[in-house]
Amino acid sequence: MTLREQMSDRVSLALRITILTTLAVAATIAALCLAVFLTVRSQLLAEVDDALGQRAEAAADNGLAAEAVLQGISPEALVAADIRIAVIWDGRAREVSMDDSLVEQLGRRELAVSTGEAEQSLRTVDIGGVDYRMVAVPGGEDRALVLAQSLEPTQATLKRLGVVFWIIGFAGVLLAGVAGWAVATTSLRPVRRLTDAAERIAATEQLTPIEVSGDDELARLTVAFNSMLEALSASLQRQRQLVADAGHELRTPLTSLRTNIELLSQADFQGGLSERTRGELLADIRAQIGELSTLVGDLVELARDEPLDRSPEPVDLAQVVDDAVQRVRRRGQGVTIDVQSTPWLVVGDAQLLERAVLNLLDNAVKWSPPLGTVHVRLADGVLSVADEGPGISNEDLPHVFERFYRSHEARTLPGSGLGLAIVEQTAQRHGGQVRAGRAATGGALFTLRLPGAPAADRQPVR
Ligand SMILES: Nc1ncnc2c1ncn2[C@@H]1O[C@H](COP(=O)(O)OP(=O)(O)OP(=O)(O)O)[C@@H](O)[C@H]1O
Ligand SMILES: [Mg+2]
Repeated sequence: MTLREQMSDRVSLALRITILTTLAVAATIAALCLAVFLTVRSQLLAEVDDALGQRAEAAADNGLAAEAVLQGISPEALVAADIRIAVIWDGRAREVSMDDSLVEQLGRRELAVSTGEAEQSLRTVDIGGVDYRMVAVPGGEDRALVLAQSLEPTQATLKRLGVVFWIIGFAGVLLAGVAGWAVATTSLRPVRRLTDAAERIAATEQLTPIEVSGDDELARLTVAFNSMLEALSASLQRQRQLVADAGHELRTPLTSLRTNIELLSQADFQGGLSERTRGELLADIRAQIGELSTLVGDLVELARDEPLDRSPEPVDLAQVVDDAVQRVRRRGQGVTIDVQSTPWLVVGDAQLLERAVLNLLDNAVKWSPPLGTVHVRLADGVLSVADEGPGISNEDLPHVFERFYRSHEARTLPGSGLGLAIVEQTAQRHGGQVRAGRAATGGALFTLRLPGAPAADRQPVR
């Protein structure tokens, strides 16, 4: 399953952003409309109440309305066509229009006003399916005047307002959705570009960097992605180079090995080869195979491009130096090795470290004059190896740590030019460094610096 298929299984990020913005806008619009609607409604109802109350007070003051009701005059005559009027007196009630639908709604509260127990009553009643606001005010001795006004116009206004709000709400939500979608897709476009690029790289294994635009978070992500690609391609390049170099270096010993073997078999075939020449040829072949094995071992060591992985442990560098010196002495090449070391704890790989020290000692012995002395010193994490040989020329100095690099003079001696490359790689893996220079004795001087702690502390630091 590709990344794209996995993505499409879930709701896309753009859609999620759109839904979220739309919901937020919808909630805001709904809250706003509700607040405005409720305010307007209470305002309109308060106005109706005020107006009705004032009219009732005025009518009660001049007493005309009550008289008119009692005498059966129609409300039109009272210039009050929009309201219904009724009168309560001595516990009886009468309405102007005579259909008594208002009278039917009168209750205890209005009666209480007529008897003087209450000052005013105001409530909403339902007359023939229409809401009316009904007010009762005292209208003289044991009398109450009741006015009722239809709420129909107010309610119609509110209904229209509601419709307008619904339209505004829908339009707002729609607009928010469209805007959210537009913002989400445009802001996610760089992410999509990055994804496409990553997928392209995965498919084609072509580590070309991605174009960076702008300087926002996504641009930073792209830059980080590019530097990752760079590191990857550098590592790939190093591996390729190593394989190419190795192929080239292996060819020479393999060719001479083959020549020797062919010589042997031809001689066997023709039957004429002295025992001595034969022995020499075989010794040659054995030596070449030995050299090849070392070369392959070195190559494998160098090919390990990754950081230290074999669980690192505290290693006493002085012990490592001692072991390496013993091994070199055992080979007994007539060179004296003078060692002075103080313990130094390094967190790392003992095997790798010994190999590096051994490479330095091997070189020193190889280049030492017969009966020369190699001085080995270890103090405060700095190991120096000095010999009395010819030293390294200024042209060679910058190159000696390169893989397969050998000076002109070295070409006649055994070796492949990998020894110092391994020393440098080991130093770097342990967070240290190695330098080549000239010794006071005239020969070469190599200093290997490794971070660590004096063994007395027993607290190694990396
Ligand atoms: N002590 C030394 N004195 C003089 N030249 C040296 C010394 N050590 C190293 N060199 C120079 O540096 C080159 C690289 O050394 P390096 O150890 O990498 O390779 P090598 O000794 O030729 O082969 P290998 O170590 O792989 O068997 C050598 O060929 C030599 O020219
Ligand atoms: Mg060497």
